[in-house]
Amino acid sequence: MGKSKESFALHGTVVYCKSAKEMVTFEDGYVVCVDGISEGVFEKIPEEYKDLPLIETNGKLIIPGFVDLHIHAPQYQNRGNGMDMELLPWLETYTFPEESKYKDLSYTEKAYRMFVDELRSGATTRACVFATAHKDATLRLMEMFEESGLITYVGKVNMDRNVPDYYVETTEGSLSATREWLEEQKAKKFDHTFPIITPRFTPSCTRELMEGLAKLSKEYQAPVQSHLSENLSEIEWVKELEPDTSCYADSYVKAGIMNPDIPCIMAHCVWSDEHETEILKKNNVFVAHSPESNINLCSGVAPIKKYLEAGMNVGLASDVSGGSTTSMFAALRNAIYASKLRNRLFDGDIKPLTFTEAFYIATKGGGAFFGKAGSFEKGYSFDALILDDKTIHTAREDITVVERIERFMYLGDDRHIAGKYAAGIKII
Ligand code: GUN
Ligand code: FE
Repeated sequence: MGKSKESFALHGTVVYCKSAKEMVTFEDGYVVCVDGISEGVFEKIPEEYKDLPLIETNGKLIIPGFVDLHIHAPQYQNRGNGMDMELLPWLETYTFPEESKYKDLSYTEKAYRMFVDELRSGATTRACVFATAHKDATLRLMEMFEESGLITYVGKVNMDRNVPDYYVETTEGSLSATREWLEEQKAKKFDHTFPIITPRFTPSCTRELMEGLAKLSKEYQAPVQSHLSENLSEIEWVKELEPDTSCYADSYVKAGIMNPDIPCIMAHCVWSDEHETEILKKNNVFVAHSPESNINLCSGVAPIKKYLEAGMNVGLASDVSGGSTTSMFAALRNAIYASKLRNRLFDGDIKPLTFTEAFYIATKGGGAFFGKAGSFEKGYSFDALILDDKTIHTAREDITVVERIERFMYLGDDRHIAGKYAAGIKII
């Protein structure tokens, strides 16, 4: 059973993005939440809401909760390790051995508890999560998320080739375990924890497996998440494995996994050329951008500004443990750093991301995958963070609201989070 959705108003300094180009600020504003939905932001509390409980933040920053569009729950235990390796050796050396441990439910209990507790106390309100290939551990992760109040999509990972024997599945076994997992999670009637079909990536999934997953996605009305065009060695490998495809994305299209009727997240898209980008647009794919992971795994820097300017769906993501931290503050500032390196080193035509663009992809950009989330505009789900920046000292009295939020993204961390709501429910 979900907790009841509250109605109240928050008073403080409010910041949100309407679009990638427009940040809205209220130095002294009231954000009104009715039954878990935002009624908008006001300079004075409107008559019709004056009897709602008023929560005074004393000038703290109030922003929409962050959406982490791509994160690996089991890899939390490896964060910060193996960051001197490239993607493919890193998967073999660090990732597969760690993920294989989740066949043991006592390890699962301990490890996923740490992970869910950290996301709950951090700045993330919504996330799209890869679990492992294990059905029971994935169900347990979903139960923990449901209890946390966070709003998540969680996927049992599928893999039937090019994975060590100790972790690989058979095609049949992978499909039947996925169906069982979908049935079992349905019976639990979660309120804010949803299943997402999760073929790991083309190198570890045969066409036959992906075709089966596409059918399950249709049957259970579940969206899809995977990885795409992350790293040059991976892309070369896909060309060898899938000779009948026009590009990496075409391997998902040919299997029926990527199509305009199935909401789909593709992590990275660092090397998508014009042809592949057209395929992403045509299929309304959400690009999950993980700047720190792209650098750590020697992948490159995705052309996010170009995707935004093309009107594509883009969200920000930590990609733990390709990215070392669950912090979305870190992901946001890293997105700006990385875009500057790309601009300076090899792509002067694509300008660096602005602060507003980075804030947008961390909130409303990724939030769109969930429907109306990531903004305080009327009708949006009420996901909010209250940030206390009073210990981020400055003698300046002329500091603007935008400067306050900007410096918070560089200097703030989880210790400065004074409150957090997801769909109107208080989490912190
Ligand atoms: N490609 C396939 N699996 C993974 C993974 O676990 N992390 C990253 N960053 N890329 C992948
Ligand atoms: Fe990933």
